[in-house]
Order: sequence, then C-alpha cells, then structure tokens
Amino acid sequence: MSSPSLLILYGSQTGTAQDTAQRIMRQAQRRRMQVQVLPLDSYNVANLISESLVVFVCSTTGQGDPPDNMKVRNQINMCYKNHITKEGMIFNFVAKKLHKRLLQLGASMLLPVGLADDQHDLGADAVIDPWLTLLWEKVFTLYPSLAEVIPLREDEPLPPTYTFHFLDDVKEETDDRLRIAMDQTIPSQSHPFPARMVFNKRVTELSHFQDVRHIEFDITGSNIEFAAGDVVVMRPCNSPEDVELFCQLLRLDPETRFTLRATDNTAVPARLPQPCSVGQLVESFLDIAAVPRRSFFELLSTFATNELERDKLAEFSSAAGQDELHSYCNRPRRTALEVLADFPHTTAELKADYLFELFPEIQPRSFSIASSLQAHPNRLQILVAVVQYKTKLYKPRRGLCSTWLASLDPAQGEVCVPLWVKKGSLKFPKEKDTPVIMVGPGTGVAPFRSALQERIAEGKTANVLFFGCRSETKDFYFKSEWEDMTKAGHLVLFTAFSRDQEDKVYVQHRVRENAELLWDLISKKRACFYIAGNAKEMPASVCDALKEVFQQEGGVSAEEAEQMLVAMERTGQFQSETWS
Ligand code: 2AM
Repeated sequence: MSSPSLLILYGSQTGTAQDTAQRIMRQAQRRRMQVQVLPLDSYNVANLISESLVVFVCSTTGQGDPPDNMKVRNQINMCYKNHITKEGMIFNFVAKKLHKRLLQLGASMLLPVGLADDQHDLGADAVIDPWLTLLWEKVFTLYPSLAEVIPLREDEPLPPTYTFHFLDDVKEETDDRLRIAMDQTIPSQSHPFPARMVFNKRVTELSHFQDVRHIEFDITGSNIEFAAGDVVVMRPCNSPEDVELFCQLLRLDPETRFTLRATDNTAVPARLPQPCSVGQLVESFLDIAAVPRRSFFELLSTFATNELERDKLAEFSSAAGQDELHSYCNRPRRTALEVLADFPHTTAELKADYLFELFPEIQPRSFSIASSLQAHPNRLQILVAVVQYKTKLYKPRRGLCSTWLASLDPAQGEVCVPLWVKKGSLKFPKEKDTPVIMVGPGTGVAPFRSALQERIAEGKTANVLFFGCRSETKDFYFKSEWEDMTKAGHLVLFTAFSRDQEDKVYVQHRVRENAELLWDLISKKRACFYIAGNAKEMPASVCDALKEVFQQEGGVSAEEAEQMLVAMERTGQFQSETWS
C-alpha cells in the first residue's frame, strides 16, 4: 500500500487543541508523512470521503462560547480510517457527538477516543503521549512501508512554516492591516472594526483591592448590532516593556521590517501586514505572555548550545520531566517571555523563522456587553476586572487582555481597538410581561446592565436584580443607575455586601430571604432566572438557594426541586453564564 497522507482536523477555543494537532503534525513530519493540519471550520467535510487517515483533536469547554478566562476542560483525540459516506456533517458538537456521528457515517475507528484532561495536574499529555504511541503503531501496521522510513532526529528542528525576509529599506508603513476598517461588511474575526475608545474609567475605589474598568467604545459606522447577552471580542496586545525585553533577548531590532513567505502552500497569516515590523509582530501577534506548552520546550531545546540550558530544556521536553515542567511553569504561571529570560544563551540562538512555531497567535478574548444600543446608541460598553494575582514568582501575574485594556488611555490621544461582536448564550424574553430575575455579583452584572437598559427602553419593567460585591463604598459600581431605575419603578434591587459586616453575606442569602417573591414570580408569572459571574462556587450556591425556595414555598421535595430546575434549564427559563 502506498504512503498515506494524514489529515489532522482540530476544533480549538483557546489554542490547546490546536497545539496538540500541531504536535501530532510534527511527529508525522518526523516520520516523513504527508500531513495537513486545518481548523474544522475551514475544511470542506464533503472531501472527507477521499481522505485516508484523519485525526480529530477537539477541545470541549464548559459552555458554548466561553469568555477569555474559561479554561479548556477536555481534549478528545480520535483517529479514523476512512469509509465515510458523502453525507454532510455538522461540526458544532461536543467531541463525543462527533465520534458517534463519524461512526454512523461509516468511518472506521483506528483507536479508541483519547480523553485528555487539561485541568489535571499531569496535564493532557499523560493521555495524549500513550495515545500517540498507539497511533503510530497502528499506522505502521496499516502502512508497513512507513515503518521502514528513518525518522528525522528529535534534536533537529523541523523546517519552519514561514521564512522571514528582512528588508533593508525603512519606507513608511502603508499597509496597516491590523487596523483595517471595513466598509459595508459586518465586523468579524477576519474583519474587525477599529472602535475608538471613548472612556476608560475605574469604577472601584482606589483603596479597593481590585481595579474594575468601565470602558466605552464608539461603534459609529461599524454596522455592529447587538442585543442584551451578546459578547464583544477583541485581541489584546503585549505591553511595550515585554516587546522590548523580547527583542533584546532575541537580539532583534523592533524597527526592522520583513515580509513572510510560506515554505509550503500554507497562507501567511492574513492579519499581519506585509511588510511588517518585528515590533508589530511581537506586540500584536505572538503570544509571549502565555504559559508555554511542552512543544515550546521541545523546539527551544533544539537551539541550545549551552550545556546547562540544554540539559534542563531536554528534561522539560521529556515525558519523565513533565512534573518538573509543571512546577516550573504551569503552577506559578510563568510566561514564555520569562522562560526565555531564564535561558538567555539558547534564546540568543533562536532564529526568527521559528517564531511562529514557538509562539501561538494571541487569541481573541470575549467580554459580555454591558450596555444597550437603545440607551447608548452607537456605543458599546464593557465592564472589565483587571486580573492580577500572586504566585510564588516575584512579579504579580497579570491577565493580558484586561491589563492591556486598562493601560489604554483615550485622554492621552486617540485609541482604537479592533473588535467584533458575537451572539452570547444568554437570551432574554421577548414577551413584554415575562419578568426576569438576574443574579450577577461582581462583573457578572455586565450582561444584566445591558438587559435592564434594553428592557426598560422596551417598556419591560418587571425586573429583579441581585447584586453582590465586597463593600457598598468600594466596589458597588453603577449604584446611582440602579437607584434611578428603582425610583422609576423599573427595578427591584437586592444587594449583598459581603464584607461590610462581620459575617459574609452573599447573593444566595438574599435569594433565600426573598423566597416568597421569587416563588411567586417563577411559578405564577413564568419569570426567567439568570446567573452570571466568575465566583467559583457562586453559581452552585445560588442554584441550591433557588431549589430551597422551591421546596419551602412550593412544598416540593428536594428531588422535585432539582427536576424543576432541570426543566427550567431545558426551556430556557433558567440560564447561566459563568466563568472561572
Ligand atoms: P468575598 O470576596 O467577600 O468572598 C463579587 O466578587 C462578590 O462575590 C464579592 O462580594 C465576593 O465576596 C462574592 N463571592 C465570593 N465567593 C462567593 C460565593 N461562593 N458565592 C456568592 N458570592 C461570592
């Protein structure tokens, strides 16, 4: 049998599945196989019928379209030898569903589905590595000629996907694709709209531990439309300090311009201007602030000439060194840039051509929209908590997107952020008389502010909001807005200030205290109930409180209360959007 070509299709939210797909690709390339890696949505499924070997790598997240800080929970690897009939397939699935569907369509499974857990301490590799060993065994059995091929050595880097062609001239940059404004189209990932930032206000007191920003963008002329519950998506940039340090470590001049050429028939990233400056590439494309993956160490080790560094990198690249790597990198959330600074000799040897192999592209982040077009025409507002936390490392860890947003100051000159909007998971009732009960502590209140503005503009005035924060004086944002809505008779507000008294008071306590009202609204008026927020145990505690309300006021058993909640979820009467 002739040598097969391998197709790897991935569905990735945060880049983890893509990284795994690329790892499988590299292993195949070392075995000198013809291999193609594509995101699921850019592959024409009708062509599956003519593929011989297909590996699917799909990540699954808690919900459909997660916000930026939602983590990948599972990865599912599957390999099929093809006998697929020419039916169309729908790929917006959880991976198990895809597996089932492929079998129905006549694919023959080469290996059982590999279920890897990215949240597990040992990482997804604990499942993926043995799965890949089995995969190659299976492929060699099917195609014995491949087994005879001498693979490329592990300590040699594979040829890069792109090559850099540095330019000598320093002509003015004209083709600035990163900020392209689209005329008649609706902004999307490939055509974001450069929205002018109107304001960027801190809404928590300066003495409060957390910096939360209320940010407004001008979307005039963008064709952007949105409803309450929708999300806005944008890609952050690396900080100027990080860009400078990166260029220093790699001995690159940020001003130097280059054009990219693909070494095979891969397209160069459309988002990058051609020519592009090194500084621009590092600032807006390469994710140097993320915790690097094992593949990063594998490739880095091939450039090491210093013995100490080489040994350490080889350890981090090996299966046996994964615990060590986890303690060094994942647990303290060490960034790729910090790793480069720890391995200066190797970093100085890195070739620009490998930058795209070493660093994934900065991923877009989503935020719940916090305003409505009815209340703020041509404007789009968000509420962003600036993520910062300590690990054992000296420097605090900072969320790339929230820190970047917080650093933008429209008072210092015009700031434009390329963005687009997508449908969110929360849907609000169309019927005028259906009340809504919304539980949104902290920045979880963002989609509910949008909903309230929209609903009040539409004359829908049966609204209940449970808001929780630490202190009435420190982080009770939009206080006067809620008060105005309440005075106008458009809102019933319950607040839980967790740290304004000895004992913690949370939104779930307020839910319990208002059992009678809630039961009346839910059972008699078919009110919709919503939860949004990022507190870890909050959603489950609010659900428990709600079930207690059902038991106490409705006289149902615990089991019946549970079933009621499940039924409400099925019909959309109960909805939640939570992240961690
Ligand atoms: P805390 O920080 O005082 O514990 C917004 O972050 C609000 O959510 C804060 O008042 C915070 O209180 C509260 N919060 C934290 N954990 C929670 C939980 N498990 N359930 C409900 N609210 C919680």
